[in-house]
Order: sequence, then structure tokens, then C-alpha cells
Amino acid sequence: MQIFTKTDNLIKYLDDFSNKTKGFVPTMGALHGGHLSLIQKCVKENDISIVSIFVNPTQFLEGEDFDKYPKKIDADKKICSLAGVDILFLPSADEIYFEDEISILAPKIKGYILEGHKRPGHFNGVLQVVLKLLNITRADNAYFGKKDAQQLYLVKKMAKELFLRINIIECNIIREDSGLALSSRNSYLGQKEKKDALLISEALKKATQMVAKGEKDVSNIKREISKILNTLKVEYIEITDRDFNKIDTIEQGNTRILIAAYVGLTRLIDNVEV
Ligand code: PAF
Repeated sequence: MQIFTKTDNLIKYLDDFSNKTKGFVPTMGALHGGHLSLIQKCVKENDISIVSIFVNPTQFLEGEDFDKYPKKIDADKKICSLAGVDILFLPSADEIYFEDEISILAPKIKGYILEGHKRPGHFNGVLQVVLKLLNITRADNAYFGKKDAQQLYLVKKMAKELFLRINIIECNIIREDSGLALSSRNSYLGQKEKKDALLISEALKKATQMVAKGEKDVSNIKREISKILNTLKVEYIEITDRDFNKIDTIEQGNTRILIAAYVGLTRLIDNVEV
């Protein structure tokens, strides 16, 4: 596995592989089984696999966990190397960002609902860095997890609307046996909090069962989810179609149920497609 910290060096190195298919997994590190599933798919489906680890400052809001975001660089290198990754990109912020630079703005509606409403400007930072990383790697395929469903939707939208020559590959959420969706931020949870966090996946499971039994009324499902989550500080419980439009009635096969809630001081998100 080749490790690069300088953008120019990586770009030059990749010039020699222009006739190979390149797959890319952007991450912020503290890799877990969710990342590993993306990486394994990427390694399998491409001649050259590239992983980046960059805790992107522009997607964190004032007062969020940028400074204490989990860092496990030695373990991450091992995971990538064992998974057969060819190139690991570990840039510093000044390899990625410039002074007074051109910026990308997330769409005014879909970038400012749900996560974008609670974290205004977050998706500007995400899209900015993803666009840069896609341009640096010139990947054919880039892999994103469905846990960050709105991020995935917006990255696909950017790729389409900016005519990027990239396939955005959607990867399933990976869960612990308990149901808890894997996330780097789970490492903030104490034992009791980890138990409390299970309420989120339980609520989504209950909602999925209700839909399977024929419940179509969004407000009935939201009410049931609220009951299950009543001990948590819920930021939102939302039910939308797959394009993040609000709906009143469930259309099976075209619906998302999304939750953001604090467990103690840790903000967790999760969702299901039904
Ligand atoms: O999902 C993440 O880890 C980040 O938002 C990403 C896509 C690596 C951009 O910083």
C-alpha cells in the first residue's frame, strides 16, 4: 500500500494508472465495519483502490466535535493494508484548502432540511471536500454509505448536476447484532449510553414492521417512533420519499424514515428505506 500526504504527488502517481479502473472511498478515519464494507467492495470492483482519511474542518460547525473527532491512524492503516487497498491518502488541511477559495454551495432546499437544517452549512463543506477528492483521485467509482443518506443523495445530485464522470455507489448500512448502526461516533458512547442508543434502531425496526403490516399514515408511524425514543433528546423524526420530499402517506419502495437524536452528548443519525 502506497501512502501519500501530498496532493501533487498523488496526482502525479495516478497519471500512470489512467488506463486502470479506480475506486475511491473517502473517509474521516476511525474506520469501522461500515467503512470496511465500502473498502472491500471498492477493492473487489476496481483495478486500483484508493482510500482517503481527512477530518474535513469545513463540514463541522462551531462547537461540534472537530477537535475531538476520533483518530486511530495506526489501526486505520492496518485495516486498509489488510483489505488490499492500493493507495491511502492522508492530506493535511493545507493540501486541500486554499486562501479565499471558490466554494461549492449545497442546494438551498435539499441541503437545508434535516441534517442541513440542524447543521446549517454542513453540506457545503461536505460537497466542497468530496468534489476536491473526486478531482484529485479521478476515480471511476466512489463508495458512500447509506447511513449518511442525505449526504449520499446530495453527492449523487452534485455528480449529476456538475456532470462529473463518476459512478456513485451506494452501500448498505452495517449494524451490530444489536441493531446499532456502525459509526465512528459510537466510540463516544459509554456502556449505558450504548444501550440507550439501541432505541434508535428499535424505533426504525418498529416503523418498518408497521409499514410491512400495511400502515400508511406517516403521523401514526412518527407517533410510535416518538414513544420509543421518549427518553432521548430527539432532533428529528422524519419520513420522506427517496428524494427527501415530505410525504403524508407511505409509498412502499419509495420511502425513507430518518432519525437524529442525542444519546447523552453524542449525536447519532440512522435511517431505513421502506
Ligand atoms: O461521510 C464522511 O465520512 C464524510 O462526510 C466524507 C464523505 C468523508 C467527507 O468528509
